[in-house]
Amino acid sequence: MVNDNMSRPHRSMSATDLSAIFDEVQTERLVLRRPRIEDGPAMFAVHGDPATNRYNPAGTDADLATSEEALREWRQHWEDNGFGYWAVMLSNTTKVVGFGGVMHVLWPKRDVLNLYYRLTPGVWGQGYATELARTAVTLARTYLPQWPVVARIRPANIPSIRTAERAGLQRRPDLDTENMDTEHIIFALGWFPTEAP
Ligand SMILES: CC(C)(COP(=O)(O)OP(=O)(O)OC[C@H]1O[C@@H](n2cnc3c(N)ncnc32)[C@H](O)[C@@H]1OP(=O)(O)O)[C@@H](O)C(=O)NCCC(=O)NCCS
Repeated sequence: MVNDNMSRPHRSMSATDLSAIFDEVQTERLVLRRPRIEDGPAMFAVHGDPATNRYNPAGTDADLATSEEALREWRQHWEDNGFGYWAVMLSNTTKVVGFGGVMHVLWPKRDVLNLYYRLTPGVWGQGYATELARTAVTLARTYLPQWPVVARIRPANIPSIRTAERAGLQRRPDLDTENMDTEHIIFALGWFPTEAP
């Protein structure tokens, strides 16, 4: 829905204002909501699964406590900023099938929004990541336009590359040189001044 806010810059939107927009978002087939403290086991189910971390240099989470620590950090980011990575559910269900969205990271020395998505293998291949990523990027560009959206992806991770492209990010070989590691290639949107509007 386009509302009056969308035509104005949002540089000064407070965490409270942003959380009213980001806290729970319904897409055509998904519910995207702020992660809850009780999502630890769902975090571990996704981040402890080797299949979902095949291209993750950090590998799988070793145990529930590791996933719960990441969950605490994500929830703190929500507290501080009013947005962050969502827990993802299929509409009319309560089971969390993955996580994703945008969150602040410093990359390499610049504050950017990292685009993230990781879903349980049982729901792959049905366009859910595309739906999630498009929603995250649309909201980010509308309400957080002061920060570029960046995805750092291993070249062999074709589903992730396709998802980033479907969400409107562009391959930016020029930014690969900014990268601290050589394992990832860079996709971005809103990285000015070099990117064409
Ligand atoms: C990346 C991921 C989230 C994609 O989820 P998904 O719901 O299956 O993705 P979608 O169904 O929306 O498909 C997105 C695109 O990837 C393509 N794709 C999906 N699975 C694919 C596969 N196995 N091989 C090739 N392309 C594939 C789709 O065709 C689609 O591209 P298209 O629209 O050009 O046809 C999912 O594979 C995943 O969770 N992977 C593990 C976590 C991960 O690697 N995250 C990225 C970290 S950088």
